[in-house]
Parts: sequence; structure tokens; C-alpha cells
Amino acid sequence: MSRPVLVRERGALEEILSGWHRLGESVALVPTMGNLHAGHHRLVERARELAPRVVVSIFVNPTQFGPNEDYLRYPRTLERDLQGLEPLGVDLVYAPEVADLYPLGVRGAVRIEVPGLSEILCGASRPGHFSGVATVVLRLLTAVRPGVAVFGEKDYQQCALIRHLVRDLALPVVIDRVPTLRDPDGLALSSRNQYLSALERHEAPFLYRTLRAIVDALEAGSRDFLQLERDACARLEDSGWSPDYVAIRAEETLAEPDPHARPAAYRVLGAARLGTTRLIDNIGWRQS
Ligand code: PAJ
Repeated sequence: MSRPVLVRERGALEEILSGWHRLGESVALVPTMGNLHAGHHRLVERARELAPRVVVSIFVNPTQFGPNEDYLRYPRTLERDLQGLEPLGVDLVYAPEVADLYPLGVRGAVRIEVPGLSEILCGASRPGHFSGVATVVLRLLTAVRPGVAVFGEKDYQQCALIRHLVRDLALPVVIDRVPTLRDPDGLALSSRNQYLSALERHEAPFLYRTLRAIVDALEAGSRDFLQLERDACARLEDSGWSPDYVAIRAEETLAEPDPHARPAAYRVLGAARLGTTRLIDNIGWRQS
């Protein structure tokens, strides 16, 4: 397959999109921040199943990083990303400059607030993060006008937030969710894994194993959510991690679950720091 067309600004994007729209060809969008790995590629493969045209956006979005986060050192690897996409049949990569997506500047930018969902779990330790995500995703959806946009379950709260955004604004786009791609030892693929030292990389799958242990306990009938969450945090701390949270939540809303609900559908989520690297993961469990 061929190299995707690289487009860096709205005008050129619009020209290509209007050509496709004239032909009645719908678009599947895969929003990313680049530094693409096999997890992102899985999303692209899914996008290809969903629409005749596939657009990948690559944009390190300043509004979703906190002041002490890694915006400046976030890996930017556009040339390698384009090469990696070549065999996947991507039509277009939209990699705008900040001024293209935020024409009035980042400070004066209109922002989207999503109360509730953006304040819990990861939102509690990353104030403003989900508002930044909602803000950029809305801008990307407006620019690309896809019929479907594909997101990874790796960022489960992000998926829930985007679905909420799309429902509340009645945006004409379907949100598709792809399961997390993992290394064989269970570690969820993530651009941030490259920050880990060799020793930390060896330890990193412990987060997944800790969440799995909760799923096993749920499977065995335990419904003492608070105790399960506390035990998991204690185990992470004993192994040298600094947990932000471990939480058992209702699958769709991420609200605290009703232990008596039948059938039960939960999402078990965790975020913890290993050294200076913050890792997140989650697993679904449904009563069969
Ligand atoms: P980024 O971290 O680059 O992730 C882009 C997409 O890839 C997200 O939907 C994420 O959930 C998915 N993804 C990452 N690792 C994955 C894995 N191991 N398996 C499956 N999917 C995976 O998420 C963002 O960028 C940004 O917040 C963005 C939505 C682009 C807005 O700026």
C-alpha cells in the first residue's frame, strides 16, 4: 500500500475532504498524538473496516497537558509514524500546527467542559486534562467530519467522555471502541512505556496483574468493592508504586456500581506511578 498524504493545514484538508464527500465516500477518523505503536495500528485496522476513507490525526494537544506534565518532551516522531502507517492503507494523515487547530491561540481558545466525568478517576489528579481532550476532539471532529471515530479502551475514561460529548451535542458521528493491545506479559502498549527503565519495564505488568486479581475476586463472588480497591492499592504500594486510584465502576457510566445489580457489568480501572512514569490500565468484567 502507499504512503498516506500528509496534510498540515485546514484548507488543504478541506479540499480533499470535499472531493470524498462529493463521491459519497465516508471517513473513519483515528485521533492520535503520534509516536504510533501497534495499539494505534489496531485502531487504524478497525477504521479500515468501518469506512472507505481513513484519516489519522497526529497532534500533541497542548490543552490536555497539565503545567507539570510532559507536553514539551512528549515524543514527536512524524516521519517514523508515516512509515509505520504505509502498509495499513491510510488515505490521509492530518498533522496540524497548534495554530491550525487553535486559530485564536491556546489561551483564548473556547473550551469544552464535561462536568462529572472529567472530575473523577484520572480527572481528579489531572485537572483540566479531560476538558482539553474534549476540546481537541470536538475540533478534530469538526475539521474532519467523519462518520465514525475510533478510540482505544486503553483510555477507558476518555472513551466514556467522548461518548458523552457526542451524545450531549448530538454530533453526527459514531464512536467505535477497540480493546487494549498488550505486550505478551500483559502490559498495555503506551507511548509512555518508553520512559520506563529496564527494571521498571520488568515491574510494569504488575498494574495489570493487580487489576486482574480484582476481576478474579469479582468472579469468585466478592462485592466488597471498597476493600478490593484498598487491598489493590496496598499491594501496589508494597511493590514500590504510588497509586492514584484503583476503582471498580459501572461499565458505561463509570459511576460507583450497585453491588446488587443483575446482571453486573463492571470496569476495573487503575492509575499508578512507577518511578516518574504514570501508567493507567483497565479491564472489563461482566457476570455471565
Ligand atoms: P494517544 O495517547 O496517542 O492515543 C490515541 C488512541 O490510541 C486513543 O484512542 C488510545 O486509547 C489508543 N490506544 C493507545 N494505546 C492503545 C493500546 N495499547 N491498545 C489500543 N488502543 C490504544 O488518546 C490520545 O492520544 C489523545 O487523548 C487524543 C484522543 C488523540 C486527543 O488528543
